[in-house]
Amino acid sequence: MSQSASASTDQTSTGDGQGRDFVVVANRLPVDRAVDENGSSSWHRSPGGLVSALAPVMASNDGAWVGWAGSPDEQLEPFDHDVFHLVPVELSAREVERYYEGFSNGTLWPLYHDVIAPPSYHRTWWNAYKDVNRRFAEAAATAASEGATVWVQDYQLQLVPRMLRQMRPDLTIGFFDHIPFPPVEIFAQLPWRRSVLEGLTGADLVGFQRPGDAQNFQNCVRRFLGVSFRRGEAEITAQTTSTAFDFTGEDAADDPSWTLKAGPYPISIDVEGIKGMAARKETKERARQIRRELGDPETVFLGVDRLDYTKGIRHRIKAYGELLADGDLDVDHDILVQVASPSRERVESYKVLREQVEGMVGHLNGQYDTMGHTAIRYLHHGYPFEEMVALYLATDVMLVTSLRDGMNLVAKEFVAAKADGSGRLVLSEFTGAADQLKQAILVNPHDIDDLKLLMLAAKAMPDDEARKRMRAMRRQVLTHDVDAWQEAFLNDLAALRRRNDDAQES
Ligand code: F6P
Repeated sequence: MSQSASASTDQTSTGDGQGRDFVVVANRLPVDRAVDENGSSSWHRSPGGLVSALAPVMASNDGAWVGWAGSPDEQLEPFDHDVFHLVPVELSAREVERYYEGFSNGTLWPLYHDVIAPPSYHRTWWNAYKDVNRRFAEAAATAASEGATVWVQDYQLQLVPRMLRQMRPDLTIGFFDHIPFPPVEIFAQLPWRRSVLEGLTGADLVGFQRPGDAQNFQNCVRRFLGVSFRRGEAEITAQTTSTAFDFTGEDAADDPSWTLKAGPYPISIDVEGIKGMAARKETKERARQIRRELGDPETVFLGVDRLDYTKGIRHRIKAYGELLADGDLDVDHDILVQVASPSRERVESYKVLREQVEGMVGHLNGQYDTMGHTAIRYLHHGYPFEEMVALYLATDVMLVTSLRDGMNLVAKEFVAAKADGSGRLVLSEFTGAADQLKQAILVNPHDIDDLKLLMLAAKAMPDDEARKRMRAMRRQVLTHDVDAWQEAFLNDLAALRRRNDDAQES
């Protein structure tokens, strides 16, 4: 470790006087706050595959999780919650606006999702992104023990790997990008493209959802940093550090080069958790009750998404509306349930989308509802895990029509829940999940006519054919769960670091 490493950090300040061997750095902490009727609040583990996959790694590796607690201007000391040692990073209201809503979700999110919405480029947002990334890097450097492994998550924190390497060259650093990585022609728009790539190339291993994302990243590094990859690996030198990081270069001189690997590590879900919930008597009973509450339709179509313009919700509703208009579906027999959980509600493009979607739903329901039946059951809420699994069980045709999606875990959850082999999955070819769920009914959601045909084909598909497809998809999902994902990534990261250390010694 270099003399100046952790100069600005104090390894006893994680709140319990201990440096941690495994540190996850993510925009959000893995806990949500619930407030009861008396106004007292408590923490609960957040739902989702990433959190349940990393919980055992945390417990067995003396881990810590660095992240934001989700409210502005809140100063929290490090604390423990179930297996997690949590290190909160504070964000001011202005930083939430500029770093989270601004640069992360008004610049990077649309840029990385095929510019479906136009990205905005503001220098004030970029400056906030740099400042906040530095704060996360400092918190991780403080929390990590000598030689620890740090795993940085997602597009909000792309500068952290390089910042961390500068502060603590002794660390093994991984980065996983949960969203798509754009092709060079689109990434080229970003005024700070070099700095972002320099940030990411500070890691030992950068993981992506799809081979195409890893290839796009490699092309961007070649184009903008002049560094080429061979078989997924490249030699990075500290000299590529840009002034954007305001580093002196002192630390860099101690650590002149390292091998960076960039490759696909498609994420998955907590299969056992979903299977277990789907097998419960109460869940099955709730599924039957949901169908009754929907008026016992012949076909339940279901969409489950964050209310996000990348998800193709408008395309899905348009196709369903035209099928009603054409007389190919009718509200007495076919219902669309759309769960659209609230998301990023202060970002302009999300406000616009909500108005559009709710306008379409109101229009169609006004036109086609009968006293007894609703065309679209639109639910603008988040639901607990058990209700979602019951909803999957109650569904005949799952519609995943994203215009671009890093993975789409809803598709995998649906497959894992359908233990009896029933259910049809209509899946956009623009999702990472389409690489793995090849027996789904694959669709280009921009092609409304084709989407309509495929929705009808799903409804009419003979049971034998549907079960054959579902069995094949279940084999894939059941053997590639989120545990296998984290193991594959962390094993490759450890092997790479051993090679990097050996290379430095020889
Ligand atoms: O898909 C990327 C992602 O950051 C997920 O990790 C997360 O569940 C989702 O978007 C919601 O993000 P936010 O933190 O903005 O609510």
